[in-house]
Amino acid sequence: MPVTGGVHKPIEAYRRLYPVTADKVWLNNASMGTLSAPVAGALRAYIKRHALGDISIEHDLKLVQRARETAARFINASPGEIAFTKNVADGLNIVAQGLDWKPGDRIVIADQEFPANVYPWQNLVKRGVELVKVASRDSRVAVEAIIEALEPRTRLVSLSWVEFSTGFRNDLKVLAKTCHERGILFCVDGIQGVGAFPLDVRETDVDVMATSSHKWLLAPTGTGWMYVRESLIDKIAISYLGQSSVSRGKSLDYLDFDLPLWPDARRFEPGILNYMGLVGLTAAIELFEEVGIDRIADRIKALTDGAVAGLLDRGYDVISSRNSAEWSGCVCFRSPKIEPAEIHRRLGERNIIISLRNDIVRISPHYYNDHDDIGRFLEALPR
Ligand SMILES: Cc1ncc(COP(=O)(O)O)c(C=O)c1O
Repeated sequence: MPVTGGVHKPIEAYRRLYPVTADKVWLNNASMGTLSAPVAGALRAYIKRHALGDISIEHDLKLVQRARETAARFINASPGEIAFTKNVADGLNIVAQGLDWKPGDRIVIADQEFPANVYPWQNLVKRGVELVKVASRDSRVAVEAIIEALEPRTRLVSLSWVEFSTGFRNDLKVLAKTCHERGILFCVDGIQGVGAFPLDVRETDVDVMATSSHKWLLAPTGTGWMYVRESLIDKIAISYLGQSSVSRGKSLDYLDFDLPLWPDARRFEPGILNYMGLVGLTAAIELFEEVGIDRIADRIKALTDGAVAGLLDRGYDVISSRNSAEWSGCVCFRSPKIEPAEIHRRLGERNIIISLRNDIVRISPHYYNDHDDIGRFLEALPR
């Protein structure tokens, strides 16, 4: 990992790179992350070049290549296993529409999944596929409950790395092993974890990980990407085919319609990509590599620990698990006395930005927040 001058700068030093910290307490990275100055600078440079007509497809393709290598390195994949998409749902739909389902096949998800990890599978019900939603208990998705739902006809399990409404972190390694022992594919919606925790797709052994960049990665919207295990690429039929799905080598013959598919995950990208978004994604990940993703996770742990202790002290109910393998950057809570909308409103008035999800209040600090931010949040809570 590149490290500034061979020595890590203290993590607090990076806060000044986030302009949002000047006048807001942004505790809403699970909804929308804010851009750092280096990311905003990379986007501005891209816009300037394009505004001045300093445009070349070769240059843009190099930017895409760099983004692909950077994303792959970040999760220990190879570049050929990364496809750029629009969002999480786009990635999961590529898988849902590409596998050869038979009537009676079963897919298992949890009942607390975000819609992006429900609709792509639900869309297969009309083809005779059965979608099983495992009930969560005490804001947890129990591995035992997932195991109980697995039957001989189960072909795929798809879960969020971190559940958006409870902050519960699923154990990807255990789930992948459980699935593979039964010949089942394991698919992950990674968006609430990637950028907050280290992910090694080889070590965890997941088959597919679809994510996007505007939350914990602190990069632009519309910049989705997915990992597809190399041996699975050929088993996913291409639903959307276009100029970029095929390898044209040096040929400039745009009327040759017999070009071969890319042998790797680029075949899932039918056309020109969100180049500007990818420039932002590269800058965001390169900055995280400099900071160190382990240090980022530790910092999020310290900040969320502080928030949880303060919430409990003030009589709030924290519903997110804080167990060692289950905690995440999302802390979800309620008050026994005060309406969630009222809490949200009061904090908003003080420029403290948080989320409401159904009847739950959620904060999601990132590494650029500090303990003063948490203190201001706690102070502003209605008693
Ligand atoms: C768990 C989870 N998955 C996916 C998404 C986003 O899905 P998409 O990128 O398809 O809009 C969100 C939040 O917006 C989320 O919390």
